[in-house]
Amino acid sequence: MVKRVFHGDIVFTSHMGGFDIYEDSYILVEDGIVVKITKNLEESDKGYELVDYRGKLIIPGFSDIHLHAPQYPNRGLGMDKELIPWLNTYTFPEEAKFSDLEYSRDVYKKLIRDLWREGTTRSVVFSSVHLNSTKLLMDMFIESGLGAYVGKVNMDRNSSDKLNESTEKSIRDTEALLQEYVNKSYLVKPIITPRFLPTCTDKLLHELAGLAVDYNVPIQSHLNENTSEVNWIKELYPDSTSYSGVYNDFGLFGQKKTIMAHCVYNKDEEIELMAKNGVYAAHCPHSNFNLSSGMMPVRKFIEKGVNIGLGSDISGGHTLRIPDVIIGAIHQSKMNWLLSNKELKPLSTAEAFYMATKGGGSFFGKVGSFEEGYEFDALVIDVEDLMVGKTLTIEEKLQKYLYIGSKDNIIQRYVKGLKIEEPS
Ligand code: GUN
Ligand code: FE
Repeated sequence: MVKRVFHGDIVFTSHMGGFDIYEDSYILVEDGIVVKITKNLEESDKGYELVDYRGKLIIPGFSDIHLHAPQYPNRGLGMDKELIPWLNTYTFPEEAKFSDLEYSRDVYKKLIRDLWREGTTRSVVFSSVHLNSTKLLMDMFIESGLGAYVGKVNMDRNSSDKLNESTEKSIRDTEALLQEYVNKSYLVKPIITPRFLPTCTDKLLHELAGLAVDYNVPIQSHLNENTSEVNWIKELYPDSTSYSGVYNDFGLFGQKKTIMAHCVYNKDEEIELMAKNGVYAAHCPHSNFNLSSGMMPVRKFIEKGVNIGLGSDISGGHTLRIPDVIIGAIHQSKMNWLLSNKELKPLSTAEAFYMATKGGGSFFGKVGSFEEGYEFDALVIDVEDLMVGKTLTIEEKLQKYLYIGSKDNIIQRYVKGLKIEEPS
């Protein structure tokens, strides 16, 4: 058994709303699992190897629960458009390039390196429609030591000539991926990924829901992101009461663990259905601003008990850095409070930090916190150069890192107790 004890200033959020802070303390980890946190080591703690991070922050690694790997080269491009024209002009042509494995390797290498650099230890990822490129991405994640759910995108209508699959091929390739990867790795797993309702026929949606059950795998998609998209859903499904209702009728809304990205225009009953079915909302504030999609009323989701994590939504979002997404979520909640609804209190730093750690991390299991039994995914942060000689509390040091820090402040990354080196 590997027994290590990490010594430093420990900060995490065991609940939404406040920080758990253990200054100059010890976190005991056995085979990657947190045993306890203590101010003083006792005689019985002797068998642990000491890892000294005194004066540094030890925080949970970040979870990014919504991003598109093949859109990485498009970061920062096309932000003057709204969702549907942006997909057609920028996104689909870029994703079509991932039939080429060499190109895929080049891009995915940079993406995984940058996830590592920015402290994203777990990700929930859309790849492209291409089976081999998706396998490559999964193998590269496995090689890196970072955790991920990766989904081969399914689209059998309304994308582009190069990307539209036949229904049969879409299902066949998805099943091939599931067969190979369901039990291949503890940290890297497949996820069923119908892109969104407009790009999937009823038959495809039905079959995908069946595969999710047969292979016991989770589901991810997009929901209520943009007004034109929402109107399109009303045209496609005139008899349905809501966008969520359509997913739910197909068995793609929490029947297996599910993430829905954006959720900007959810009706109250859709938020309630998410809470009831345990569906996760991936909040993607930068993307929602960049594509003029709108502001998600996050507080309503919190109050109704929906699980929420944060998503960079590369490349609707322009930044992979989760601390930037934390700040984006806070800014968006302040604007929403000011301009839309004074009852929706802005997010505190601790609440947004929770979403980026334990909130999104819980999709992976006991991840994103340092409570007993949690997998030790951690970042060691040195904020000395951000303090400009000022004396700060532990919480203030974390604020400094989140608002003005960079990857240079992260001096070590751990996933399930293992130190992760920069992917080569
Ligand atoms: N809806 C369907 N596909 C996409 C995508 O690639 N990005 C975003 N932001 N929304 C989508
Ligand atoms: Fe997206």
